[in-house]
Amino acid sequence: MKRELAFDFSRVTEAAALAGYRWLGRGDKNIADNAAVEAMRIMLNKMNIAGEIVIGEGEIDEAPMLYIGEKVGVKADSATVCNVDIAVDPIEGTRMTAMGQSNAVAVLAAGEKGSFLSAPDMYMEKLVCGPGARGVINLEHSLEDNIRAVAKALKKDLNDITLVTLAKPRHQNMISEVHRLGCKVYAIPDGDVAASILTCMPESDVDMLYCVGGAPEGVITGAVIRALGGDMNARLLLRTEVKGADDESQKLAEQERERCKTMGVEPNKILRLNDIAKSDNVVFSATGITKGDLLEGVTRKGNLATSETLLIRGRSRTIRKIQSTHYLERKDDKIKEIVL
Ligand code: FBP
Repeated sequence: MKRELAFDFSRVTEAAALAGYRWLGRGDKNIADNAAVEAMRIMLNKMNIAGEIVIGEGEIDEAPMLYIGEKVGVKADSATVCNVDIAVDPIEGTRMTAMGQSNAVAVLAAGEKGSFLSAPDMYMEKLVCGPGARGVINLEHSLEDNIRAVAKALKKDLNDITLVTLAKPRHQNMISEVHRLGCKVYAIPDGDVAASILTCMPESDVDMLYCVGGAPEGVITGAVIRALGGDMNARLLLRTEVKGADDESQKLAEQERERCKTMGVEPNKILRLNDIAKSDNVVFSATGITKGDLLEGVTRKGNLATSETLLIRGRSRTIRKIQSTHYLERKDDKIKEIVL
């Protein structure tokens, strides 16, 4: 993929973050999400790419915009146009945005055709570590064995290991088990993409992530972890395995099984990093909506807004942090969004 496209992708997550920010703390996660989706789509459609959404807001019948299979980009110049697959999460942390909590980001990963695992919107078990422990994690083994392997690779005592997870009831026993081993656990309410990236950031004390979260987020995580030289194992899980076997879960699990068949993936099969992100030639962009461990959030003063974006090119392993100031248009004497 052409490297000049990277900056255009950073504009896409900037626009989504600024649009989502308008709905910060207003209690409605769907409005915030829709605003970010729309802004992201407008920006993607300005790019000179023949893009296809491969991880998006759902299937065509459930998502009017950025659905799986949607084509984006202007394709104006057919001689130079790039064919790209794009995995998006316009707001990773919709609830956090609606409730004004930290760590919400707008994210995307883009790569050449076929770069990403096709995954339905279902649950995924994820185990992630940074470059120092690459090659030692294995979901076939217990979490305890994996923690011990990571500690050994990092030459750390178990007492010095920090694992991040989602603070969900399904993780309660696991968290107690990790505490029993003497490790620290950071249990965050939502947002496992940003938390996974922390495993690869030298300034962060997070060594690994383990959780059951969304599969779409897992694919985006795989792309950025590969670009950063970390490691990841994962397994797609049917809803019945995560939420119990009531009638509703069984119905959804049946639909998930069908979607898996169509997409050529198998629930419960262990996926290695190369199965999730199949190429190094990817671009990852994340813009903070609310201030977090990874990024500053959007701030606004009058008709100026600031944003911070993490832009990573897998091929060169370049990591950029881009601080931008955006001019907000006035319309009907009210400050409007950014000029898209
Ligand atoms: P969205 O805000 O994009 O919906 O996702 C937030 C999130 O916490 C993800 O980071 C995580 O993978 C998933 O939700 C977990 O799902 P659930 O809330 O069903 O446990």
